[in-house]
Amino acid sequence: MRSYSLIAPAKINLYLQIVGDLFESPARGRSDGFHELVMVLQSIELADLVTVRAIGTDQIQLHCDNAEVPQDQTNLAYKAAALMQQAFPDSFSKYGGVEITIQKRIPIGAGLAGGSANAAAVIVGLDLMWSLGLTQSELQDLGATLGSDIPFCITGGTALATGRGEKIDPLPDLNHIHVVLAKYQNLPVSTPWAYKTYRQQFGATYPRSSGDLEVRKKHAGGMLAAIAHQDQTQIAKLLHNDLEKVVLPEYPQVQALRDRFQSLNVLGTMMSGSGSTVFALVESVEQAEQVKSEMRSAFLAPDLDLWVTKFCSSGVRLANH
Ligand code: C5P
Repeated sequence: MRSYSLIAPAKINLYLQIVGDLFESPARGRSDGFHELVMVLQSIELADLVTVRAIGTDQIQLHCDNAEVPQDQTNLAYKAAALMQQAFPDSFSKYGGVEITIQKRIPIGAGLAGGSANAAAVIVGLDLMWSLGLTQSELQDLGATLGSDIPFCITGGTALATGRGEKIDPLPDLNHIHVVLAKYQNLPVSTPWAYKTYRQQFGATYPRSSGDLEVRKKHAGGMLAAIAHQDQTQIAKLLHNDLEKVVLPEYPQVQALRDRFQSLNVLGTMMSGSGSTVFALVESVEQAEQVKSEMRSAFLAPDLDLWVTKFCSSGVRLANH
């Protein structure tokens, strides 16, 4: 086929622990180096629709219905197509250039991995369109060269992510947990800023040996047990995100969203990734709608977006399948 449409789901972080500097990184200790993380990532039904199409020219083109999304080679989805062109030059010449069309539903600068989800969809879509037959792990390895969240976005569901976030171990599916998301439209948070600020404030406490690093990684054990037992109450109680320590004091509006969620009838609330989205877990869709309308009346801000969604058990997948 000459064209594939893919659903590219967003993610939330049920758990994000910054363990320290990434020990195997050559950039270790430098202010632009990556961090060793332990995360539990969860796909949600809020998703973009990404279409890849073979075109007669030898170019990569990108269109998006949201003008705030860069439509040039700085877009991660464009970079994904360029990466595939570089890795499989024969396929690129055989099928011609690629047109990428993104219908944006995931907010940007939100901590929901929208850009990574789009890049993941391009990698999966080109694998199909060019009949490459790559394995999930080969697709993930390609994605990891572009961004830490891309390997998860390819497989999705519920997963433990370690290393800089690119090493993925699937966890049992957690269907049926409903989610309310809240994000101010013009309030993006820069991920590099959040990690850099965390290093400035907490770098002195990072473990200095890989043994200490291993000990710290065990903190996620409670969350993993709660997931194994499908214990929603416990999962909600153990939600954790180290980046809240730097983002919430800097962005009082985000803190206010979190405080308000906390005061409502929710299982638990947390900022996702580096923000600025705050999510709340709730037991039913009725409760989710109720919480959403209570948030709407509490803030009355026209630039506050609210969504009701729920966990989903897959990453990038073909539309209409
Ligand atoms: O991999 P990604 O492009 O999503 O990372 C964005 C930025 O977030 C990195 O440039 C780095 O500053 C920071 N980061 C980090 N440690 C990680 C992942 C991201 O410090 N494990």
